[in-house]
Amino acid sequence: MKTLAIETSCDDTSLGIINDENWVFSVEKLIAYSQIKEHNQFWGVLPEIASRLHSEKIVKLILEIGKKEIEKVDFISVTTHPWLPGSLIVGKAAAKLLQSYFNKPLKAIHHVHGHLFSLLLERKKEDLTFPMVVLTASWGHNDIYLVTNKICPLFWKEGDQEVAEDLNTWSQKNPSSKTVSSLNSFMSENTEQVGPFSITKIWYTLDDAAGEAFDKVSKMLGGPYPWGPWISEQALKGKENEAFHFKRIFLPLKDEQFFEFSFSGMKSQVSFLLDKLEKEGKNLTEQDISDLAFEFQEAMVETLGKRLLKAAKMYGATTIGMTGGVSANQRLIDYLQTEIEKTPWIQFLYPKKKVYSTDNAAMIGVVGLLS
Ligand code: KG4
Ligand code: ZN
Repeated sequence: MKTLAIETSCDDTSLGIINDENWVFSVEKLIAYSQIKEHNQFWGVLPEIASRLHSEKIVKLILEIGKKEIEKVDFISVTTHPWLPGSLIVGKAAAKLLQSYFNKPLKAIHHVHGHLFSLLLERKKEDLTFPMVVLTASWGHNDIYLVTNKICPLFWKEGDQEVAEDLNTWSQKNPSSKTVSSLNSFMSENTEQVGPFSITKIWYTLDDAAGEAFDKVSKMLGGPYPWGPWISEQALKGKENEAFHFKRIFLPLKDEQFFEFSFSGMKSQVSFLLDKLEKEGKNLTEQDISDLAFEFQEAMVETLGKRLLKAAKMYGATTIGMTGGVSANQRLIDYLQTEIEKTPWIQFLYPKKKVYSTDNAAMIGVVGLLS
């Protein structure tokens, strides 16, 4: 099977031809126009400019893929939701046009499902083992999914000390609270099917996503867009510095909403610290900025990493996956790789290439091929 995939949900116009040969997912072609330089001057993604640029660039990219190649695909996959409506509509309109011109079926794909299954790019289905927990950390979303290969998902593992303690604290705070079995039924209501896989969102953010926190802190420190990678570059020059230590925020279990992340507090800690230093009349040196970036990145890495490891423990995962723009962070990859060495029965997967971590059409094609 072969699909033409289109992704225009934010600031990348991306098209690709993706193949599935006996559950091996290969990328035949992947081309994109990145709007970084246009948004840079505005310090962020401007939706109006994003949609105009998508509509200016998409025809050129379709022509670059070429008529002959599009004729060979079995169907078209397009991101239809979520994110910027004005950007999404450009991809959807183009896909509809190609659908009727080439007489091909069209599949509507959820952007976050794309990130989740970006793990399969240049891999085969057998490379995944189950249960699997996957972090999808980007600018707009920050979730952990439980993924199983059964129609009926495997739920909460009882008998684990740490989990039992969490459940205890949680039920004391919520006297009318649910039992483990009702938690399981909550989960089954929140489970979706993507091809042969059941996916359940078990963890999400109350406020900002990790990528958004990286971006906002980077802005505070005077970094250029795209900000996330800038923080990690600065952090490489930085070192531990007690003066810039940040508290890790681990929210407790909360009623039926399961576990939550909160990154807006992380960003506020940096903002308060900078205000305090300004009031004290302290001018930050370049080394201070690098140290601050280092300490902030450490706090983010530990929060994301520990939560992902905890989710793996709770659900007896044999694969831990990490996807989305933030999964391009080398320090986060190194942290998890080191931690996972302690549990050799768990494998750690992240997208094979950095371009598969950030928004791209190839991941949209994989979900199309799976469904
Ligand atoms: O997945 P993505 O390209 O777009 C969304 O779907 O949101 O993720 C973009 C986010 C941005 O917030 C960006 O700063 C962050 O991913 N990001 C990083 C790194 N590379 C990209 N964050 C931390 N470290 C990185 N190396
Ligand atoms: Zn994304």
